[in-house]
Amino acid sequence: MKLPKKATIIEVGPRDGLQNEKNFVPTDVKKEFIYRLKQAGIKEMELTSFVSPKWVPQMQDASEIVDSCMTMDSRDFVLAPNKKGMERVFETSCRSVAVFVGVSDSFNQKNINKTTEEALEGLKPLLTELKERGYFVRACISTAFYCPYVGKIPPKDTLALCKKFVAMGVDELSVADTIGRANPSEAYHLFTLLKQELPHTLLTAHFHDTRKMALANILASLQAGIDRFDTSAGGLGGCPFAPGATGNVATEDVVYMLEEMGISTGVDLEKLAAAIEVVESFVSRPIESGYYRLHELNQ
Ligand code: HMG
Ligand code: MG
Repeated sequence: MKLPKKATIIEVGPRDGLQNEKNFVPTDVKKEFIYRLKQAGIKEMELTSFVSPKWVPQMQDASEIVDSCMTMDSRDFVLAPNKKGMERVFETSCRSVAVFVGVSDSFNQKNINKTTEEALEGLKPLLTELKERGYFVRACISTAFYCPYVGKIPPKDTLALCKKFVAMGVDELSVADTIGRANPSEAYHLFTLLKQELPHTLLTAHFHDTRKMALANILASLQAGIDRFDTSAGGLGGCPFAPGATGNVATEDVVYMLEEMGISTGVDLEKLAAAIEVVESFVSRPIESGYYRLHELNQ
C-alpha cells in the first residue's frame, strides 16, 4: 500500500465542532479546549469564525477567542465569509484565514445567502487584499461530493470551483464532504483528479462522518496522495445549514488509525482525550468515537 510517513491533522473542533451546538458553550470552556488541543500537539486549527452572530450565535465570541488563544507556534485559522468578517479579522493578530463556498448554488444560498458566482465576486477583492497583506488563505470547498438540496455533485464542477480559487491565489483547498455521503471510490476519484489537475496546491480532505464512512474515505484519500485531514476532537460538528449532516470525523480515531499504520501525526492521544473531557459536558450529544469510548472505560 502506498502511504506517507507522516500526515497533518487540522483540528476543526472549536469551529466546525461547536458551531452547530444550540446551547452556548462558555467562552472559557472554548479557550481551555483550544489550549488542551495545542498541548496534545495540534499545530493547525480552526479556532472560530467571524460570521454573522445572528446566523451562528455560537461563534459570537470569536474576537475574544482569537485574542486569548492565538499562539506563534501553530497555524491558527479563523473563518470569514465577507468584507465585514475580514474587517473583524484585521482587528486581531490572526494571520491565517479560511473562506468558504460550496459547489452547489442551493447550499450557498442557505449558508451564506448568495449564489456561488455572487460569493466568488464578493471574495475576489478580499482575497487580493489578504494576499497583499501576507495572510495564509485556505478555501473550504463545501458540497464537493453531495449537496443536501440537489444531491450528487459532478467532480468536474468541484474541480472548476477549485481552479477558480487557485487562480485567485489561495494557499490551500480544504475539500469537503459536507453531509458525509461520499464513499471511498468517490473520495479516491476526486482527490486523484485534484492532485493531477492542481499539482502545486496544498490539498486537504474534510470528511463528515454521517454514514460512518469517513475513516474509509481517509484511507482512500491517502491512496490518492492526500496527507492533510480536517478532523474534530470528539467527532463533534456539522454545518447548521446542511440538514442531515452529523459530526466531522473524530480526531482521535483518525490519529489512532494513522499512528497504528505507521503514519506519524505528532498528536498525543492521552492529551487529546483530556481536551475532549473539557467540552464533553457542554455539548448536546454523546461522544461516540471508538478511541474515546475505550479510553473512558479504561479510566
Ligand atoms: P446576510 O444576512 O445576507 O448579510 O448574511 P448582510 O450583509 O445582509 O448583513 C446582515 C447583518 O449581519 C448586518 O447586521 C451585518 O452587519 C451583519 P445588522 O445591520 O442587521 O445589525 N453581518 C456580520 N456580522 C458579523 N460578522 C460578519 C457579518 N456579516 C454580516 N461577518 C452572511 C450573509 C454571510 C453574513 C451570513 O449568511 C453568515 O454569517 N453565514 C455564515 C454561515 C456559517 O457560518 N456556516 C457554517 C460555516 S461553513 C461550514 O461549516 C462548512 C465547512 O465546515 C466545510 C464543509 O463541511 O462543507 C467549512
Ligand atoms: Mg464541515
